[in-house]
Amino acid sequence: MVGKVVIVGSLSMDLVAQAPRIPACGETLRGTGFGMFAGGKGNNQALASSRSGAVTAMIGRVGVDAFGEQLLLTLRKNRINVEGMLKDPDNATGIAHITVDANGNNYITIIQQSNAALCEDDIVRSKKLIEEADVLLMQLEVPFPPLIAAAKLARENGVKVILNPAPAPEDGVIPHELLSLVDIITPNQTEAKHMTGIDCETVEGAQEAARVFSERGIKTTIITLGEKGALVLEAGKNAKQTPSYKVAAIDTTAAGDAFCGALAASLAHGNPLEASVQIGCAAGALATTKVGAEPSLPTIEEIQILLAANALVSP
Ligand code: RIB
Repeated sequence: MVGKVVIVGSLSMDLVAQAPRIPACGETLRGTGFGMFAGGKGNNQALASSRSGAVTAMIGRVGVDAFGEQLLLTLRKNRINVEGMLKDPDNATGIAHITVDANGNNYITIIQQSNAALCEDDIVRSKKLIEEADVLLMQLEVPFPPLIAAAKLARENGVKVILNPAPAPEDGVIPHELLSLVDIITPNQTEAKHMTGIDCETVEGAQEAARVFSERGIKTTIITLGEKGALVLEAGKNAKQTPSYKVAAIDTTAAGDAFCGALAASLAHGNPLEASVQIGCAAGALATTKVGAEPSLPTIEEIQILLAANALVSP
């Protein structure tokens, strides 16, 4: 079966500086490279879903400017349905300022602009895309009201709801109304700590945090652990760690998005959770092997090659 995924979320132009390290306060540092890439967590997850073979639609906003045009073109080139995309006459396209250090770690500042203007009416206008999907995938770079509206619609139509709580809200609080509509939550270690107060650097810490999400009523919690893979806790079961894959990482930007998009596509295709998490881990690992968000998101063929090579890192 070919699954259908709809994404509600952000689109940004990523302005990426490569640098030997992160400059100190007041310091001017010579960088080693620069690139502009289609990005934004919503956009990246849509690309990852489509490249994983799911019929994918995107609901979001860009500005009436060159960056917006480029982002729309990238969606179209990746066979993503853009009927739910709006050109916002009042706000410029979102921007992300990214610095990647010599170890591949990224430091991101987002300027939301048109992403902050996404509203409930945008969801109502595109409700058909949600009603007809198998999976709704969302992140937190757009306001809560359209996310709640989309999740409600999904619930009413038996569509699985995945929330990638990225970036975690400053105060760590996601409205209960939204959480109560979520089937699967996919924080990384930083986001899980932000939302539970528990240090998730160790697998034991992540297990404890996953239990907190479970107590808050979320059926399935998946905490991504970077090179250690992912920890999965389903209500009423024991937590399980899915290992990751050995790769030469140079830029971790969008690794989490690759995981979420590939996971959503696999679940939409009807694959079981465990296999889908494994596919997500492979996609996330592959995304770290190239610079930039859009160019790094793997295809299903690339994922399958890595899975077949079975180059698993032990948990
Ligand atoms: O998750 C990576 C993304 O975060 C980047 O593409 C950037 O746009 C920010 O939203």
